[in-house]
Amino acid sequence: MLTSIKTNSFEGNKSKELGMMYYRVAIILFGAQLLFGLVAAVQFLMPGFLFEVLDFSVARMVHINALVVWMLYAMIGSVYYMLPDETGVETVGIGLGKLGFWVLTAAVTVVVLVYIFVQVGAGTEASIWLIHEGREYIEAPRWADIGIVVVVLLFYWNVFASYMKGKQTGIMTVMVANLLALAGLYMAGMFFTDNISMDQFWWWWVIHLWVEATWEVFVGTLAAFALIRLIGAKREVVEMWLWIEVLMLFGSGILGMGHHYFWIGTPEYWWEIGALFSALEPVPLIAMFVHVLYDWGKEQGAHEAKGEPKSVITNGPAMAWIVTNAFGNFLGAGIWGFFHTLPQVNIYTHGSQFTAAHGHLAFFGAYATILIGMMYMGVQGAYGVERLRATFKSKMGIFLVTFGVMGMTIALTVSGYEQVLVERAELGATWNAFFVAQELPWYIQGMMWRAIMGVMTFVGFIYLVWDLLTIGAEAKKAQA
Ligand code: HEM
Ligand code: HEM
Ligand SMILES: [Fe+2]
Repeated sequence: MLTSIKTNSFEGNKSKELGMMYYRVAIILFGAQLLFGLVAAVQFLMPGFLFEVLDFSVARMVHINALVVWMLYAMIGSVYYMLPDETGVETVGIGLGKLGFWVLTAAVTVVVLVYIFVQVGAGTEASIWLIHEGREYIEAPRWADIGIVVVVLLFYWNVFASYMKGKQTGIMTVMVANLLALAGLYMAGMFFTDNISMDQFWWWWVIHLWVEATWEVFVGTLAAFALIRLIGAKREVVEMWLWIEVLMLFGSGILGMGHHYFWIGTPEYWWEIGALFSALEPVPLIAMFVHVLYDWGKEQGAHEAKGEPKSVITNGPAMAWIVTNAFGNFLGAGIWGFFHTLPQVNIYTHGSQFTAAHGHLAFFGAYATILIGMMYMGVQGAYGVERLRATFKSKMGIFLVTFGVMGMTIALTVSGYEQVLVERAELGATWNAFFVAQELPWYIQGMMWRAIMGVMTFVGFIYLVWDLLTIGAEAKKAQA
């Protein structure tokens, strides 16, 4: 992946080159995310670890902000990558897009350095402008917020102008409309109010409406694009699925936001609205799951009928990650989300390790997987390899990362279950109960297993990066 810019087979296609640049920053931030996650996990076991050097609050903040930022980088990278293929024209205004990349990356670097070295400030406007905003997942200080909006406008203009100039496929139509919503929602998380209920109310417009509406639709467009490229799925079929998914995702996801309005001081009618619509949210995720597996099976069957070899996958590792996405999205978001989405259940699980279990499997299953798949497609394109086969490193990467995250999820689910039984049901959710529950073996063992499985995830990540850096050149040599 590193040398892929200089020795690329994109034939001067600047949009794809820019996509690869975004991927590279994404993977570095992914590594940082995991390292800070490991620090936070160790702090659960040894509370004094790095005390007053890198406190838990800071390690956790960097962990989840790096998560959001690397995913946004990989998403922007994917769009620049697929844009010329879908529109059939060179991306309009790519020079400005490239400038935007450098501005954004410089800003992200400064923000992360401030998070790590300054960490906290006085409770004044100046801290909100210069250090961070105190809003989980989207902590960027206000100066960076404004910069992000400007860069995203440049990016959006690249996409929109190319779409207007070139072919207007169904995939691109969904992409262009959805990106507008995705980018616009960011602004709901930018204004500060000192009423905590109002602040949370708008903050969820970003977090929930990103991950359970616009990001899911985004993944739908990526899956559609990838299925056409990887297994030669028919465009009419994948685009038909895509429109159905969009309808169902927005239909359930928008009002499903009510599941975050149970306990923040919003009116009680949100209980019913949240319960009903969020309980419907797994339905489109099942549709996406069926879509990927159905198309795959259908294409294989069609080839077999023609007497051709059954496997027609042009990029093994990318396909493996996209199939993992179909399973992971369904399990992490659909099943683990459904578990605690009804208010009758959420009264016991809210804010326990159960939430963290769902958070890990959902972000990983629904987003990390498919974005890694897109990176493999990028590497294949950069080296001009017709068929990219999985290597030993690809297999170790996907196996260790996936099982590591799955292991962490199960460990957290066990700890969360203990909290529900002891802290909430038995001891009545008092302050004392909170501490008692954390001293019992079921909780502590869960924390230990989370750390062990976290290390496994990290080892898998090393294999993944190693593979991304080498697989292209190796495949090219084998092809020649
Ligand atoms: C890929 C999609 C999804 C992602 C990435 C995701 C991620 C998350 C994360 C990180 C949290 C914790 C937020 C916090 O820090 O307070 C959360 C909370 C929650 N999620 Fe999801 N989620 C997804 C889909 C779903 C779905 C489909 C459902 C329901 C069927 C669901 C139900 C919930 C509920 C009820 C909470 C609130 C838990 C609580 O605070 O008690 N999620 N989600
Ligand atoms: C090396 C592997 C990892 C370790 C050791 C780790 C550890 C942690 C720790 C200790 C927390 C704080 C939990 C708390 O406040 O109770 C956390 C939060 C979180 N992590 Fe990780 N993590 C890892 C990988 C990941 C991955 C791969 C993802 C997603 C792709 C992820 C997503 C999240 C999210 C969304 C939260 C916030 C959850 C919530 O508050 O509900 N982490 N992680
Ligand atoms: Fe939600």
